Amino acid sequence: MKSTLLTLALAASSAVHAQTQTSYGQCGGNTYLGPTACPTGQYCSGANDYYQGCVPGTAPPTSTRPRPTATRAPASGKRVKFAGVNIAGFDFGCDTTGTCGASSAYPPGAKGAGQMDHFVLDDGLNAFRLPVSWQYLVDGVLGGPINANNLAIYDKLVQACIASGAAICEIDIHNYARWNGKVIGQDAGAPTNAQFAAFWASLAAKYANNDKVAFGVMNEPHDLNNTLWAVTVQAAVTAIRAAGATTNYVLIPGTNYASAGQFLDNGSGAALLPVHNPDGTFTNIIFDVHKYLDSDNSGTHPQCVTNNSAVFTTLGNWLRTHKRQAFLTETGGGPTDPTCLTNLCQQFETMNSYNDVYLGWIGWAAGNFDPSYVLSEVPTPNADGSWTDVPLVTKCVAGEFNGDSS
Ligand SMILES: *[C@@H]1O[C@H](CO)[C@@H](O)[C@H](O)[C@H]1NC(C)=O
Ligand SMILES: *[C@@H]1O[C@H](CO)[C@@H](O)[C@H](O)[C@H]1NC(C)=O
Ligand SMILES: *[C@@H]1O[C@H](CO)[C@@H](O)[C@H](O)[C@H]1NC(C)=O
Repeated sequence: MKSTLLTLALAASSAVHAQTQTSYGQCGGNTYLGPTACPTGQYCSGANDYYQGCVPGTAPPTSTRPRPTATRAPASGKRVKFAGVNIAGFDFGCDTTGTCGASSAYPPGAKGAGQMDHFVLDDGLNAFRLPVSWQYLVDGVLGGPINANNLAIYDKLVQACIASGAAICEIDIHNYARWNGKVIGQDAGAPTNAQFAAFWASLAAKYANNDKVAFGVMNEPHDLNNTLWAVTVQAAVTAIRAAGATTNYVLIPGTNYASAGQFLDNGSGAALLPVHNPDGTFTNIIFDVHKYLDSDNSGTHPQCVTNNSAVFTTLGNWLRTHKRQAFLTETGGGPTDPTCLTNLCQQFETMNSYNDVYLGWIGWAAGNFDPSYVLSEVPTPNADGSWTDVPLVTKCVAGEFNGDSS
């Protein structure tokens, strides 16, 4: 299953992959961009993330285990449209000052592709967020063009997401509204709004023809001026639309790390409400919010102390009043902790009851995290081709979406 998906994903990403590799040559790997087809009599072999090569023989059959159909109906009642998991790795090395070493990125590659395939086929999930740093995509050169090689490597993950059958593949620029400590459009020596908009225009032009690709303008802004931030966000939205991405979802976040709980109190809602499409409408401009359930909303403790019912009710009512929608693109808890198995499920029940204004939720996180990570939603591949999810994904992230929570 893994290798089949990888082949599909690579085939979709660029014409070069249609070429045939030479005998015993490389045919796969997380950062490999060359030909993926092997000569007659050979097949692409190897489970190594970094290197797969052509070897004599025929590919072993992929797993024949029975699979559920990809689209599962909720058992009863209402539900949000989208649910899934963050596939992290290209954002590794970023801290909250927006300092990200372009070389710290850790492409999830075939592992991420396999996880997404599993989440869609086995869990009925349909939305993935694909964090990546700004520095990685421009190879560390502020104001520079998008680096074709780095984009091609990141694009393998985007194409794997699309090939998985997901309905939403979100590009998330994981920079906290900053470049190396300076707030975009606000600090001396920071990127200008024009530089940020030009960067988004290039990305949007590449993915404008695919409505499954959503543009997450920025991860978790914080400690900035809301009024000025709204100007930056407007510049990005205008650039994305002008680049031809006229109908893709654009996800716009407020301050306090995109906190859903402080979106209204801290003025993000008021500041971001006017952000609009070039034609003056607000179609598919979606508020991007995050919410954890631990004592300080930081997502660093395994215990969950709240179900956030009040938060999502208050925000949901405000969204209804303003006829707008929001997407919860980070949430989660300890993967086996009973307090989270209760509270995260209840949070999603509240969101399901507001499914007219909440598009969905995306859990944090799978991808290249170690399964021992405090908020791990990393599934474990089994020898027979099946996967084992953490209880939090089974019960809440997927369970509250497909009606299997019990
Ligand atoms: C934010 O910036 C605007 C425009 O420069 C300014 O008028 C306002 O006072 C600033 N707000 C704060 C809280 O500093
Ligand atoms: C943000 O909102 C919280 C309450 O949700 C409040 O305690 C805090 O003072 C606010 N901060 C700012 C800067 O407005
Ligand atoms: C969330 O917790 C509150 C307080 O414990 C409770 O009243 C409410 O019913 C819970 N919400 C859901 C959806 O279970």
